[in-house]
Amino acid sequence: MTASNETSDDLTGYGEGERAESSELKDPWVIEELQADLIDQPLDFIFADHRRQRQAALMLNMVAAGDFEERGMRDLIKFLKDDFVRHIADEELGFFPLLRERCLPEDKIGPLIARLVDEHKDDESCGATVTGLLENRLAGHELGDKDRRDITAFAEHILQHLAVENAVLLPIARVRMDDASLKALSTILKERRAAPK
Ligand SMILES: [Fe+2]
Ligand SMILES: [Fe+2]
Repeated sequence: MTASNETSDDLTGYGEGERAESSELKDPWVIEELQADLIDQPLDFIFADHRRQRQAALMLNMVAAGDFEERGMRDLIKFLKDDFVRHIADEELGFFPLLRERCLPEDKIGPLIARLVDEHKDDESCGATVTGLLENRLAGHELGDKDRRDITAFAEHILQHLAVENAVLLPIARVRMDDASLKALSTILKERRAAPK
């Protein structure tokens, strides 16, 4: 493995084995469910959710390349409308404020979080456009060249965002967040899932 490959694996949060497992053994049209008890280890829970987003980005690129699988497309649309939106709220309402409380000035966490929140806004606007394109595709309409570019750009946006969170934000959180703040985050994640929609 080259140094550049190692960097790429680190940024996406995937090691060689996981990449091989993802590409060779798993159905590429399936987004794995989150392991329920992982919520008691909230940083691992967020990292696992990033793996699901990475799979969603892979599926988006497959759609842009012309692949079609009805059940997988339906699951992808549901993931983008529900799970992906919920993840953003998990971070903005739970993870980011708790992390900000625990960080030291030299962590310069404020500008990083501001950048990530800006990217979440782009996620929400681009996500709405792309789910509309996927729904049209499901309804039998072919994608145009611009549609494919929009879908690919959204997939790239998801991947670069989670790479920053995995490579920069989560490592800071693992150092700075103590047992009390991790417990508080776990409680917020649970309460958000228990609340009526
Ligand atoms: Fe995020
Ligand atoms: Fe995230």
